[in-house]
Amino acid sequence: MTGLNERLNAAPVVPLIGDSDADRAVATARALGQGGLSVIEVVLRSEGALEGMSAIIERGGDLIVGAGTVLTLDQAKQVRDAGAQFIVSPGLVDEIAEYCLAENIPFFPGTMTAGEVQRACALGLRDVKFFPASLAGGVPMLKALGSVFREMRFMPTGGVSAANLPDFLALPHVMACGGSWLTPKDAVETSNFAEVTRLAAEAVDIAKGVRG
Ligand code: 3PG
Repeated sequence: MTGLNERLNAAPVVPLIGDSDADRAVATARALGQGGLSVIEVVLRSEGALEGMSAIIERGGDLIVGAGTVLTLDQAKQVRDAGAQFIVSPGLVDEIAEYCLAENIPFFPGTMTAGEVQRACALGLRDVKFFPASLAGGVPMLKALGSVFREMRFMPTGGVSAANLPDFLALPHVMACGGSWLTPKDAVETSNFAEVTRLAAEAVDIAKGVRG
């Protein structure tokens, strides 16, 4: 298995899975993998999400699976114990950052202001989520943050779609874009996994078009 950075360099897109049904979450993850996206974030926003994440880790194939919407240190420990390979939060909580740094687990806290990015940097983090990307100022804001925080890399998430993906990926300090547009609720709930694969492949093509 290649590492997170290598995979994101090859295909800089992180799809979100938010399904409460473990079997459907596994099928969705496999469909994403078939489309060329092998770094997947499972968001902890439903009862069955943790079980879904474990099922993907166990049965999803050659994927790197992380946990998103991690709000507390206890949750961070729980997802780490369940095998999450990276952790994403909507905001920056110092104790989660310190735990992840100590455990050597990649952590992407949500940031949307210069102060938050600076705090993340001071804690020792170099990679952050930019959230909610479109509402927080989109590409122009990210350009401004990137010009100041030259050591930081950003993962814009929130309002990213196939339409604006090229603009975000054109910024050199964007390590990857995250989003749920790759796993539309209607496609997942009707088990239309071919559509999930199509969307993943489309994102891979867009990324290749921008980054070569
Ligand atoms: C997140 O959890 O990062 C966002 O809710 C995802 O936003 P999106 O649904 O607009 O992709």
